[in-house]
Amino acid sequence: MTSSLNDKVVIVTGSSSGIGAAVVRQLAEKGCNVVINFSRSQGPADGVAEECRALGVKTLVVKANISDDADCKRLVSETEKAFGRIDGLVNNAGTTKFVAHNDLDGLSGKDFLDIYQVNVVGAYQMIRAAAPILRNDGGGSVVNVSSIAGVMGTGSCIAYAASKGALNTMTLSLARTLGPEIRVNTVCPGFVQGDWLRNGMGAERYDATKAHLEATNPLRRAGGPEHMAEAVVMFLEAGKHITGEFLLADGGQHLGGAPIGIR
Ligand SMILES: NC(=O)c1ccc[n+]([C@@H]2O[C@H](COP(=O)([O-])OP(=O)(O)OC[C@H]3O[C@@H](n4cnc5c(N)ncnc54)[C@H](OP(=O)(O)O)[C@@H]3O)[C@@H](O)[C@H]2O)c1
Repeated sequence: MTSSLNDKVVIVTGSSSGIGAAVVRQLAEKGCNVVINFSRSQGPADGVAEECRALGVKTLVVKANISDDADCKRLVSETEKAFGRIDGLVNNAGTTKFVAHNDLDGLSGKDFLDIYQVNVVGAYQMIRAAAPILRNDGGGSVVNVSSIAGVMGTGSCIAYAASKGALNTMTLSLARTLGPEIRVNTVCPGFVQGDWLRNGMGAERYDATKAHLEATNPLRRAGGPEHMAEAVVMFLEAGKHITGEFLLADGGQHLGGAPIGIR
């Protein structure tokens, strides 16, 4: 059966690596044209685009720092110029700083603002820029990539958890405001295998946490980018009556398996 995403156009912010790259690959497998965004990693972004084109879809690669409103507007306008439509937006780009939660002096006010500017303001700016086009093209779907940290107050640092909590709340406000044409939902990943956590936690702690999750999680798995991408694509492809929802994609970690993060 042909996917409802076939021939559609979806922007995925931060899609040069990790979860974002997995999302655009899965979209391309469904025949969806993809806009790949990066802020620093041009080579990896071009590589992901090449993989998608090999699957038979059209791609656009746009360098844009989503913390900058002008860049968000340009990302949307370049997409409209290239494809003439936008059907979906995935706010996946994110940032953090790894600071133990009990190290209260380890986070400055600027750290809070820098993380908030990308994880919350960036997503807001992207939605604001894309909303008129999403609405015009027969209804669109926005998926925010948040974190279990925003639900449980865990993760790489307190400022990160607070920013993802804010992203979850913003999902509710925007789902209420942008309906009926636009649905807004959020995926909250737990532990995700990859460089984000390996570099942030250090190899030893990363390996120990991964092994612990594989032994204790209800699904006996430490998730990978592809598992998070499945949840994102699900909100884009189906669920026409679902908006303002959070989905924990964590292998059941929240049910009482290993705690995630630094502390
Ligand atoms: N990894 C985890 O365990 C985990 C868990 C829960 C939630 N998440 C969330 O999942 C999302 C993706 O993370 P990931 O694990 O896939 O990490 P990743 O591989 O490091 O991907 C992050 C992406 O965001 C982009 N990015 C960062 N700042 C940006 C900016 N200002 N403007 C545009 N793009 C920007 C990066 O591109 P450039 O390199 O070009 O800047 C990169 O493509 C994030 O929102 C993160 O908070 C991750």
